[in-house]
Parts: sequence; structure tokens; C-alpha cells
Amino acid sequence: MNIFKIALFGSQGSGKGTQAKMLSEKYNLPILATGDIFRKEIKNETDLGKLVSSLIKDGKLVPDEITVKIVLRELCGEKYKNGFILDGFPRNIAQSNELEKENGLTHVFELEIGDEEVKRRLSDRRICSKCGAIYSLTVKPSKQESICDSCDGALILREDDKPEAIQKRLNIYRKETKPVLNFYKEKGKVVKVDGAQSIEKVFEDICKAIEK
Ligand code: AP5
Repeated sequence: MNIFKIALFGSQGSGKGTQAKMLSEKYNLPILATGDIFRKEIKNETDLGKLVSSLIKDGKLVPDEITVKIVLRELCGEKYKNGFILDGFPRNIAQSNELEKENGLTHVFELEIGDEEVKRRLSDRRICSKCGAIYSLTVKPSKQESICDSCDGALILREDDKPEAIQKRLNIYRKETKPVLNFYKEKGKVVKVDGAQSIEKVFEDICKAIEK
């Protein structure tokens, strides 16, 4: 049996969360999305949620000692033993070093889009406040305005999808996350995908590379 340990990279709004969901359904793989974990903690007003809330709102990274611990503990769970999809992790070299000690990735995808497209997509994005499903006012609208198709939750704009936070997140991506891609490029594991194509075409390109 092939075990896929996939990580999706790409700047904010490049479509990582959207593609992770589709890949999870197709290959029956669990998703570990650090952003989703933190947003859930914030929503539930847990101690962790209170700790990370202002960092995320400001577009900053959550400290490695918190993030790495959560991810490595989670990956020890039974549900990840036959593979997984990482969305939003690793995000800097320290995180990738920790991940690779236990869980070498088999596939690394880099979804490429330009900054103008990032800004357009993030201002159009709405997420479900209940289940986290991702929508877009333009390319993936909900059937009923502002209501989630799957759980009837209210659709909201993410706190970090405001212009000031977006620019900070883009800067962090270039400075901290791009070097991680170089690390995986040296191992010959990175497949670049044109993230500006339609959602379906991006998905097709990723699947082709997985099945090659
Ligand atoms: P996280 O939740 O990981 O956010 P992100 O990396 O900024 O990525 P996004 O969720 O914004 O975008 P995406 O690429 O998933 O795009 P999506 O599919 O939604 O992290 C949030 C925060 O948590 C971080 O800033 C940090 O504070 C913290 N954090 C998380 N991980 C961490 C870590 N490892 N270490 C430390 N801190 C961490 O798509 C965007 C929109 O575009 C949607 O509306 C969608 O419908 C639309 N769309 C998608 N694909 C297409 C397409 N092909 N064409 C047109 N529209 C499209």
C-alpha cells in the first residue's frame, strides 16, 4: 500500500485548504491544518485560543514550541498512520526539521499565485463559523447567501483576512516559509503547480503528480 504524506505550500489564499479538502476526499486521507486547529481553539475560548488569538489576528506566526508540540502529538494518532495531508505546516525551517525527524514527507506541492490574486481571493473568502468550510463570493459561493451549504452555519470573513494582516502574512511567507521549500527542493520533492488556474484544474495537476 502506498502511504502518502503530503504537504501543501503556497502563499495565503493560494488554495491549500480548498485542495486539502478535495484530496482528503479522493485519497481518504486525514487533514492536519494548523490554522484550523488554532481557529477552533479561539472559537472555543480555550487557554490556547486566548494565547494565540492576537498573534493570528495580526498575521504573525504562533511560536514553534506551541505549534510543533501540537502537530507532532497529533501525528502520533492512529488516524494518521496510513498517511496525511498537511495544510499550513511546516512553515519555517525549525518546524520542517522537527517534522522530518519522525515523518518524512512523500509529496510537497507548491501552489503559485501572485500577490494581487491573493488580495482579491482573501477579500472574497468567507468561511463557515461552525464547520470551517471555505467559500468564495466569486468562484465558490454558498447556495444561500452567508449560510454554509453543509451545516447552516453563518459565513464570516476571517479576522486575518484584513489588508494589514494580509501584507504581514505574505512577508512572513517569503521570509520564513520559502526557505522550507528550498529544503524540500534539494530533496527533489517539490512539485510546482500553477495555483492561478481553476480549482478543478489545480486539483487535476496535483492528482496527476501523486499518481505518477
Ligand atoms: P492558515 O489557516 O494556514 O492560513 P494561510 O496559510 O494564511 O492560508 P489561507 O488559509 O489564508 O489560504 P489557503 O491557501 O488555504 O487558501 P483557501 O483554500 O482558503 O494560518 C492562519 C494563521 O495561523 C497563520 O497566519 C498563523 O498565525 C497561524 N499558523 C498556522 N499554521 C502555523 C504554523 N505552522 N506555525 C505557526 N503559526 C501557524 O482559498 C482562498 C480563497 O480562494 C477561498 O475563498 C477559495 O474559495 C478561493 N480559491 C481557492 N482556490 C482557487 C482557485 N484555484 N481559483 C480561484 N479561487 C480559489
